[in-house]
Amino acid sequence: MASVYASMRSIGAYAPSRILSNSDLEKMVDTTDEWIVKRTGIKERRIAANDEYTSDMGVKAALQAIERSGLSANDIDLVICATVTPDYFNMPSTACIISDKIGINDVQAFDISAACSGFVYLLTIAKAFIESGMKKNVLIIGAEKFSSIVDYTDRGTCILFGDGAGAAVISATSDKNEAIIDIHASADGAYADFLVTPAPGSVNPASQEMLDNKLNFVQMKGNETFKLAVKTLTKDVIEILKHNNLQASEIPHFIPHQANYRIIKAVGDALNMKEEQVVLTVHKYGNTSAASIPMAINDIYESGRLKTGELMLLDTFGGGLTWASALLPFAGKVK
Ligand code: UT7
Repeated sequence: MASVYASMRSIGAYAPSRILSNSDLEKMVDTTDEWIVKRTGIKERRIAANDEYTSDMGVKAALQAIERSGLSANDIDLVICATVTPDYFNMPSTACIISDKIGINDVQAFDISAACSGFVYLLTIAKAFIESGMKKNVLIIGAEKFSSIVDYTDRGTCILFGDGAGAAVISATSDKNEAIIDIHASADGAYADFLVTPAPGSVNPASQEMLDNKLNFVQMKGNETFKLAVKTLTKDVIEILKHNNLQASEIPHFIPHQANYRIIKAVGDALNMKEEQVVLTVHKYGNTSAASIPMAINDIYESGRLKTGELMLLDTFGGGLTWASALLPFAGKVK
């Protein structure tokens, strides 16, 4: 029997039109454009409209990915969404809502929670479903309305995060050259308190006290997370490159999680990456969590930088703590 491999057949993304600039934030909290740019590289981020939900952004990214895949919605046999800002805590899943809005019926759909590592975690799931022969065309979506859990009086977090969505169709192929080469994904719950939204949940069910104490907003140990992110992201890519007998110089597109320019620069420098190898969107979108990696892939796709067959190295880190890296060629058609 011929081998079946999983391949990334298309990419799509969506960024809401409303821009929240550093000068807007200067009016909201005690910060400056200069501080934000110097410490994070972020100039602006996108914020969804009040009536624009995680599923709406996910639908826009998904429709683009399906269209670019050359398939139709009917061909999709699994829908998975990574998000920590679902439409509802905790049912129905955002994947179910997205499926319904797209018109994908009678197909398995579920969410996963892996924070910023969500999209690369989705790749592992799609790969496993496809290579086991259970599914053929998996729609994966990373979508976040992070603004719904950000405290816009907390200067340590509100400057970082933005909203958006990215999606990809992962399909079965018999061509090994198109296959996802390798994925490493891991986690360590001992650092759970580094990035946490304390409520609502079984620990802190919704209550007036929850609102009074702002437990529904994201809390982050920024500096500790920063240091661990640099260390883990660097170690992760060194390992996956070594495991596949590749040098960093052979990677045309290094696509790290877009959390902070200083983290990306430190990892890129540790690997001796040239500037043109490293994909950057953090200046215009901030940290969009599970949407960060697919939005960055879409960025190089739309600007014509990404060509069919070119190798991408994904590297991500987030709440959980979770982290993951992936090596794969882009198997979609380019414009
Ligand atoms: O996506 C998941 C992974 N997430 C991350 O990787 C995020 C990682 N963390 C970061 O990006 C950085 O830690 C931050 C950008 C959040 C903060 O930068 P930092 O260089 O780690 O600053 P710090 O937290 O050590 O704070 C340094 C100073 C403090 O003042 P004092 O105590 O030295 O007087 C902060 O109060 O900077 C102050 N500060 C600010 N000042 C102006 C913190 N936030 C701000 C701000 N504007 N927005």
